[in-house]
Parts: sequence; C-alpha cells; structure tokens
Amino acid sequence: MTTKPEDDKLPKHIAIIMDGNGRWATEKGLPRTEGHKAGAENVRVILEHAKERGIKYVTLYAFSSENWKRPKEEVKVLLDLFRKYMKEDVAELQKKKVRISFIGDRTRFPEDMQERMNEVERETADYNDFHVILALSYGARDDMIAAIKRIAMDVMDRQCMISNINEQVVNDALSTHGIPYPDLVIRTSGEQRLSNFLLWEIAYAELYFTPIYWPDFNEQDLDIAIEAFGRRNRRFGAV
Ligand code: FPP
Repeated sequence: MTTKPEDDKLPKHIAIIMDGNGRWATEKGLPRTEGHKAGAENVRVILEHAKERGIKYVTLYAFSSENWKRPKEEVKVLLDLFRKYMKEDVAELQKKKVRISFIGDRTRFPEDMQERMNEVERETADYNDFHVILALSYGARDDMIAAIKRIAMDVMDRQCMISNINEQVVNDALSTHGIPYPDLVIRTSGEQRLSNFLLWEIAYAELYFTPIYWPDFNEQDLDIAIEAFGRRNRRFGAV
C-alpha cells in the first residue's frame, strides 16, 4: 500500500471532550437533557466521519467521575442514554467491525451495563481497523492512582523491581494500555481546560479548542480540526 503524502498530517488518535450539550439546549429553550440526546446523535455522525477520514483511534469523554455529582434526574437520563447507545449504536458499530473499549470505573454502573461493556469488549477485541474508546465514569487521576496501586502490588510480589519502573511500566498499568497516545485533543464549547482527561497520555498532544457546542460540531468542523493539526509543527519533546 502506498502512503499518501498527507497521511503523516493525519492524527492517528483523536481524543474528544464533548462539551456544551447543556448550553446548546438551554439556548434553544429546551431542557438540558435534550442537549445530551442531541449529543448522543452526534457521536454517531462524528465517529462515522472519523472512520472515513482514516483515523485509527477515537476516545470520547462521555462521563467523568465528577459527573456523578450532577442532579439525580440528569444522571438518570445520561445512564439511560448510555444504555440505549450500547444496545443500538454499539451493535451497529460491531457490525461494521469497529473495536470498542471502555475506560473508567465501570463498577459504578448498574450490573446490566457492566455486563454489556464486558461483552462488547470481548466481541470486538479482534477488530483492528478502527478503535473507539468510551470514557465512562473516567478520571485521569483515579486511573493513575489505580495504576500506582497495581505497580506497588507487583513490587510487593517481587514481579517488578523499583529500578525497572519506567514509562512503559506505567503505560501498561493504566486503563489505556495498548492504545497509542492521542496526538490531537479536541474540546468543544469554548472551555479551555482538560478536566482530568487522559492527563498522562496527552503529555505531547496538540490541543484544539472550538467554541462550537458538541451537538453542532459536524463533519466539516472535524475536518477543520484535522487540518489545523496537519499545519502544526510537531516536535515531540523538543522545547
Ligand atoms: C458535557 O456537556 C457533556 C456531558 C457531560 C455528557 C456527554 C454525553 C454525550 C455527548 C451524550 C452521550 C454520549 C454517548 C457516548 C452515548 P455539558 O452538560 O457539560 O454541557 P454544558 O457545559 O453546556 O452544561
């Protein structure tokens, strides 16, 4: 297979903070939960386009560990949306041979959802063209604490020597193990924060912020973000 010259300008892994659902709805005089529904619809559109563009990995920040503190009714609507998404949309993705993984503390979700997450991961584990990672009840600090505990246990069990702990050992202990670092992070809705998303993994990622609310972020907007990435001079560690 020949490599097109523009291929090295394409991010391999895009991580997206899908923000602005609530404001999108409020500005239209709708309940916030309508924004989440529109946001879930948009996930399908953007994943389809990312796949067409030849992106290999997309990680979506769908629910942070902090989001449990939202009003009970909003959390319930989000859980119902995730459940529906995992039943219908994820089944469609499976048919298209998309690999799907989940990162975050899945034990906080109802049993049926945990089972579905495990099942989907198992059933799609061999697909390798396009990999979608859904961050649910995810927080980077929690993930790093869990990784530190895993490594500490290995040290106690003499499976690992302290002097051998390096970047690879930490990568292997994180929930993102086996997934290349994101090279582009997109946050919609105008906020310019990382909000505890993949903090270790995005150390050298390009950051792209857009004022567009997530439900309005369309295929063309993704192309613009990808083009902006292609124009940047990636230096990987050079100051
Ligand atoms: C942020 O908007 C968005 C979320 C907390 C939830 C993200 C969820 C979706 C996009 C829908 C479901 C996703 C999947 C994968 C089915 P916000 O509520 O913080 O908006 P605001 O900042 O305007 O209040």
